[in-house]
Amino acid sequence: MKISGAKNAALPILASSLLGGECVITNVPRVVDVTTMCKLLNMMGAWVSVEDSRVVIHAEHIHSTEAPYDLVRKMRASVLVLGPLLARWGEATVSLPGGCAIGTRPVDLHLAGLTKLGAEVSVEHGYIRAKAARLTGARIYLDMPTVTGTENLMMAACLAEGTTLIENAAKEPEVIDLAASLIKRGARIVGAGSDVITIEGVHELRGMDHEVIPDRIEAGTFLIAGSITGGDVCVDRCLPRHLEAVTMKLREMGSKVNEEKESVRLKSVGRPNGLDVKTFTYPGFPTDMQAQMMALMCVSDGTSVISETIFESRFMHVPELCRMGADIKVDGHHAVVNGKATLTGAPVMASDLRASAGLILAGLAAEGETEVSRVYHLDRGYEHIEDKLRDLGATIRRVKAA
Ligand code: UD1
Repeated sequence: MKISGAKNAALPILASSLLGGECVITNVPRVVDVTTMCKLLNMMGAWVSVEDSRVVIHAEHIHSTEAPYDLVRKMRASVLVLGPLLARWGEATVSLPGGCAIGTRPVDLHLAGLTKLGAEVSVEHGYIRAKAARLTGARIYLDMPTVTGTENLMMAACLAEGTTLIENAAKEPEVIDLAASLIKRGARIVGAGSDVITIEGVHELRGMDHEVIPDRIEAGTFLIAGSITGGDVCVDRCLPRHLEAVTMKLREMGSKVNEEKESVRLKSVGRPNGLDVKTFTYPGFPTDMQAQMMALMCVSDGTSVISETIFESRFMHVPELCRMGADIKVDGHHAVVNGKATLTGAPVMASDLRASAGLILAGLAAEGETEVSRVYHLDRGYEHIEDKLRDLGATIRRVKAA
């Protein structure tokens, strides 16, 4: 089963097209968040062409530097246009993202970093307004290694005058992929993937041709689909080293996991064992795999504990899993899961993107039929998930809500 391009790498790379030049981006997943980003760039006046997984963008002339509430409300990652707009076009007006199903999710570190780069930043009437004739390099220390914050600041610093240091930067593979695409365009970036990124500003960036890295979260989700059904699943066109936090846990739970250069195969061996997982920034266990891992723990042998350290309320899937017979108790940032031999199918409701994947996985293992509603969350980040699961032998179909 082939893994699509990473949504979380594609989104900042698409946003970075606002920095100039012709950008040809391939292996872009066809998911709703990508469509939303393309729509936003198009609304600003960029020329955008999408053909399957290839997106071409020219942003030589734009007529708006605003990201309206309607789009940001649908996708928080719209805030990724802030850095490039400010650096290249001298101003940006971006709706302030509100809270969401997984927590309050502030963007204060993005704004503090841009202020350090010399921007005038204010929040008025629900909008972030930022202005700068030309940004100037600075030393920025992030209190938290925020992923999109690191990306926004790295993009902004590319065209700033002088050198910028981002300390306590996010180390996620998606940050490295964005940096790689910017370096192809003439950006001078060193250290992406470590916790200090140095960017020496240049006057302009050219275009590039860039293939987005595979989606490690999609790959991890399908490996868990294999384990939860006692099956044998091979995910192709992925980067096994990006999946290590997940594959290590799956091995500890008893599965056989074999890695090749660009594929991972999981073979189940009996019922998985329960174990403890703590979400952490990369290379730790990804919070975006927490709901899927919890679904697996629900049918594992013994007790498991999940500690969620990234987002404060990312347990919205718990009551839904309990509707399917799971035994889970939440205490603050921790969830204790007592594994059951079986779950039973039930109507359940998705609260966010990864929660919906967790519920689908639980449904694959449950006796009887499970109906997951609000699957529009799923379409934000998974490409044809039901077709891919059907190809692996699942009985799954999409039905129109009554
Ligand atoms: C990105 C991913 C998302 C993933 C998350 C954590 C994209 C498009 N989204 O989201 O799928 O779940 O990383 O791996 O790449 N924080 C602040 N102030 C800020 C920014 C963040 O306090 O200005 C806090 C957040 O509330 C959270 C933590 O930092 O507790 C990490 O969030 P962050 O890394 O920023 O997540 P996103 O970049 O929004």
